[in-house]
Amino acid sequence: MTNDEQAHVDLNVDVAHPARMYDYYLGGKDNYEADRVAAEASLEAAPELRAIARENRAFLHRVVRHLVNAGVRQFLDIGAGLPTQRNVHEVAQEIAPETRVAYVDNDPIVLVHARALLSSHRLGRTAVVQADVRDPEAIVADDGVRSLIDFGQPLAVMLVSVLQFVPDREPQDIVAPLRDAMPAGGYLAVSHPTQDFRAGQVTQVASTYNRAKAPAVPRRKAEIERVFDGFEVLEPGIVQTPLWRPDGPVTTNLDLIWMYGAVGRKL
Ligand SMILES: C[S@@+](CC[C@H](N)C(=O)[O-])C[C@H]1O[C@@H](n2cnc3c(N)ncnc32)[C@H](O)[C@@H]1O
Repeated sequence: MTNDEQAHVDLNVDVAHPARMYDYYLGGKDNYEADRVAAEASLEAAPELRAIARENRAFLHRVVRHLVNAGVRQFLDIGAGLPTQRNVHEVAQEIAPETRVAYVDNDPIVLVHARALLSSHRLGRTAVVQADVRDPEAIVADDGVRSLIDFGQPLAVMLVSVLQFVPDREPQDIVAPLRDAMPAGGYLAVSHPTQDFRAGQVTQVASTYNRAKAPAVPRRKAEIERVFDGFEVLEPGIVQTPLWRPDGPVTTNLDLIWMYGAVGRKL
């Protein structure tokens, strides 16, 4: 994207965006006043949001390492977020430099940042596409995605901390077209907030997002299980993110981590 093109992207900075609120939790600088106000309101209700965001990133990194070590060389990362922390292509290409990653997000600021970051870095193996997770068929058909991702070969679809932003649809209906597009043996990684822990705080955080016009909904474990219809869920199952194949002793206070993570392998 050229500077002229960037200047014409409407970043809509007066409205809070989930990507920029998440960036704020993680200590990033790519956020605006409206994002900080909404994020601070959420943090007031649930100060653990920063730990949840950090644990979510750590989960994502462990999943990517696991899948690359299992032979996956293509990732479709939907709801990719701002590049504040190590991203999927960095983690994956450290182990297997030939790994291809297509990032998808609907927030224009993510696209601006990601393209700036990638223009000097490993272009050709990484693509950034603006699209909406609500339209998975369009994502599968997208030329930018197709330029990197071969749906006939093993791949991993990452839906990490994004399905909660589709409150009015069953998440399995979003996943089904993605599952149908991937070959047997393809992987699906999901993390999702839940009201199974600290329901009062979770409800307050959801209200903050609703007021900020970024509606989000927590879901119970049984609802997240249905997302994995047609997949074998890998051990240890659907668990709080720090418990998914930790690299060492888990020191986080699990009572505060109201976020599930899991990985499935298509049957
Ligand atoms: C909490 S961040 C998660 C970022 C990254 N996946 C992670 O887990 O670290 C949620 C991301 O989903 C994106 N998002 C929200 N609604 C979306 C939609 N309808 N389609 C595509 N992306 C969406 C936001 O812009 C944001 O970048």
